[in-house]
Amino acid sequence: MEVTITIDGKQIKARKGTMLLWAALDNGIYIPHLCAAREETESPPASCRLCFVEVEGYPAPVTACTLPVAEGMVVNTSSERVNRLVAAGFELIMSNHRLDCKNCPANGNCELQRIAKARKLRLKPKNLPVLHRDLPVDDSAENIVYDPSKCVLCGRCIRACRNHGQSVVGFARRGFERVVTTCGDVPLGESGCDSCGECVKACPVGAMSLKKK
Ligand code: FES
Repeated sequence: MEVTITIDGKQIKARKGTMLLWAALDNGIYIPHLCAAREETESPPASCRLCFVEVEGYPAPVTACTLPVAEGMVVNTSSERVNRLVAAGFELIMSNHRLDCKNCPANGNCELQRIAKARKLRLKPKNLPVLHRDLPVDDSAENIVYDPSKCVLCGRCIRACRNHGQSVVGFARRGFERVVTTCGDVPLGESGCDSCGECVKACPVGAMSLKKK
């Protein structure tokens, strides 16, 4: 069953129950997002906090990746409140992301670049200090290079690995120390990783990449 909703003044139709994020993207309306992935059947963790929108009747902005569309919904993707939230969340992510676009395998196909362009945000933080962790690049796996200093902690690689039946990577530690790593922090090449590349496909930035042949 289809419902009609309005996003930024544009009337669109979407299948009832579809998450608002996918309904918007399907209709050419970009909403920033990092942690949600369309191909996943499980609910997104809603952890990146970038897909905020205003919905009429809701007292505060809500995450579009967790909100199913409903008949008559009226959505604003860039109200002042939303823009402030997205800018603050993006700056926080970028304050801890090793910026090296020129040499990054994701250059030109990076969700961070897409968000910056769409929302006219700087990739380099303006208000927050840049805090690099300078973690070593792991190129021990057969086909994969993992640069944890570029990781945005969206968790998509973890879920892709699990859905592939591997569960080689997961989150470890908390706060600023939080990292995607292997069990026991061993290099990927010693972790049982079969270099299937699902984590690379899932990574929205350049943290996981294929080795150059
Ligand atoms: S995509 Fe919605 S919170 Fe990350």
